[in-house]
Amino acid sequence: MSYEIKRETHVHGKLWSRAAAGYFSDKRMAKDYVTAIMRVARGCKPSTIVDLGGGTGFIFEQLIEAGIPENVRLVVLDESEAQLAVCKNPRITPMKGAFQSFRRADIMDGTGSMMLICRSVLQYAGIFGQKPWLSHARSQMKTGEWFVHQSGCSEDVEGALELDVLFELMGVDKWVPHKEALVRLLVQAGLEITDDFPVPPVEMISEELAVRYGVSPEALGQIEADLRQTCSNRPDLFKITPAGFIFNFPYRVFLCKAVE
Ligand SMILES: C[S@@+](CC[C@H](N)C(=O)[O-])C[C@H]1O[C@@H](n2cnc3c(N)ncnc32)[C@H](O)[C@@H]1O
Repeated sequence: MSYEIKRETHVHGKLWSRAAAGYFSDKRMAKDYVTAIMRVARGCKPSTIVDLGGGTGFIFEQLIEAGIPENVRLVVLDESEAQLAVCKNPRITPMKGAFQSFRRADIMDGTGSMMLICRSVLQYAGIFGQKPWLSHARSQMKTGEWFVHQSGCSEDVEGALELDVLFELMGVDKWVPHKEALVRLLVQAGLEITDDFPVPPVEMISEELAVRYGVSPEALGQIEADLRQTCSNRPDLFKITPAGFIFNFPYRVFLCKAVE
């Protein structure tokens, strides 16, 4: 298990629904992403959908509610056992595994068709990991199969830089590209983007960052002072609160088809 997952396992499992201000258990936040998955699944009729870094299976719960056909196998792949332990729905198969090394043959037989989904995981790949992780995912797909994902992605390069510097100052090896860079990474991996759109950001609340990443009050105070200067013209990214600050982690949904 990677260090970036290990350092967060204290908020995994039962506590996860309250993490990130409840974003990952909020149906409203997931609505447009779930609609996009359903639209693609209706068209390509996969025999198996794999949720890479699917955590507690929340997105599959939403797909089941939205009427994903009974004959579609739903596999949550995650490196955190604490997250997988929460998946109790008999329709969902939890499987321990990593985005960067999962094998199609371990998940399904040679005849079925696979669709990949993934929400808020690519940032764990860090600055050097997104290219190889995406190539690996593509290598497990057949041409014509789909990958629908909601990934950390800012509209502009300044937004990405502010967030990446914030991660660096907190000692967190996550990395988020801006839209142009992520489009390039996806295309280079052999994925054609047929549609993409922004979805609500997750609010990173300073008190929660302190607990989640073990950032000291002194370091957090210094980070806040820096952000007050560098983000003074970015109310879309940064706001001051009575207890500290909120930084918006931006997302974009990409509908991608595996091409030659
Ligand atoms: C922010 S959470 C999102 C959970 C879920 N996708 C959702 O949207 O509700 C990130 C999840 O990715 C998992 N994860 C991070 N890096 C991973 C990797 N390399 N392989 C598999 N799972 C990973 C973590 O354990 C965690 O459950």
